[in-house]
Amino acid sequence: MELDAGYDSRKAKVQAFDDSKVGVKGLLDSGVTKIPPMFYSPKLDPIETETSLSDSNLSIPIIDLQDRHVEVVDQIQSACKKWGFFQVINHGIPADVLDEMISGIRRFHEQDAEARKLFYSRDSNKKVRYFSNGKLFRDFAASWRDTIAFVANPDPPNPQDLPAVFRDIVAEYSKQVKALGMTIFGLLSEALGLNPSYLNEMDCAEALYIMGQYYPECPEPELTMGIPKHTDCDFMTILVQDQKGGLQVLHENQWVNVPPVHGALVVNIGDILQLMTNDMFISVYHRVLLRNIGPRVSVASFFMNFTISECTSKIYGPIKELLSEENPPVYRDVTMKEILTNYYAKGIDGNLLATFKVVKENIRYWIGSP
Ligand code: OGA
Ligand code: NI
Repeated sequence: MELDAGYDSRKAKVQAFDDSKVGVKGLLDSGVTKIPPMFYSPKLDPIETETSLSDSNLSIPIIDLQDRHVEVVDQIQSACKKWGFFQVINHGIPADVLDEMISGIRRFHEQDAEARKLFYSRDSNKKVRYFSNGKLFRDFAASWRDTIAFVANPDPPNPQDLPAVFRDIVAEYSKQVKALGMTIFGLLSEALGLNPSYLNEMDCAEALYIMGQYYPECPEPELTMGIPKHTDCDFMTILVQDQKGGLQVLHENQWVNVPPVHGALVVNIGDILQLMTNDMFISVYHRVLLRNIGPRVSVASFFMNFTISECTSKIYGPIKELLSEENPPVYRDVTMKEILTNYYAKGIDGNLLATFKVVKENIRYWIGSP
């Protein structure tokens, strides 16, 4: 009885928060000095309670794309096998374009509440939408983050449907990130020993979905997360972060900081590419802590189409050229529809790939977050 009452009261609070349509930023602007319990992180995962500070000797690789081609391919191969993450510099996108993209996202989240509210929606078919916590009603704990998300490719929204505060920079940034994505998919193909055009021909760079993340200043940063540990459900993600820091990746059971490098982009392998490479390249857990003075802004470009209406019957599975008797398929072939259905059904920290294993291990299925 009491549990039910607690649950109902929590549900009502989550609903009221969502109905406000102004996200965590709205909550902060209303003057809260303590975070509401719906944001408390569960502390059940032993990794979460272990030392979270990074070993300062460890850091994700920084790869200079202007280095000799063979060296770049080599470094990318090593980074994707060991880390699933790397940063790129000299990638061709001018630093002022990155800075303006960050500023544009910040302007959106810091404009008048009424202007933000117009975009607030939980309809994943919408090409532009503002929301707080994609899985607010699915996950046990909410996190301290608001998002403005939009389709960048193919079939982007009409420019007049994008918020005026970042309309111009989004057009420019989308074009440049798509081009860089194609370059990196070329390098990844080579790092796999495939023809350079292989992953681009598999349409890995075709769909691009951008999320402008805003982590408002948090009065009790130790009680919640900016984004809890998760892997990305896509082929690859290219992220630009501001100078605040807080992003960490899980590497050999240790959380390692991804220090902001001005002008650099953070690249990571997503679940679908791990499946296609039969675990050669890894999609690793990452998260954002709120230790630092907020707000923090980042822009994540996902090579993926998250709008269900567009989902196709296209099939993805371990790349045949990579398989052999010694390297039999770990995963079965799956349709994009199955990927999306499973992605929307799982909790943010759920393991998508476990569902697609050929031989089901004795894994612990999360029904929701602990
Ligand atoms: C994400 C993500 C990290 C960041 O949006 O999936 O991991 O630094 N973002 O905002
Ligand atoms: Ni992510």
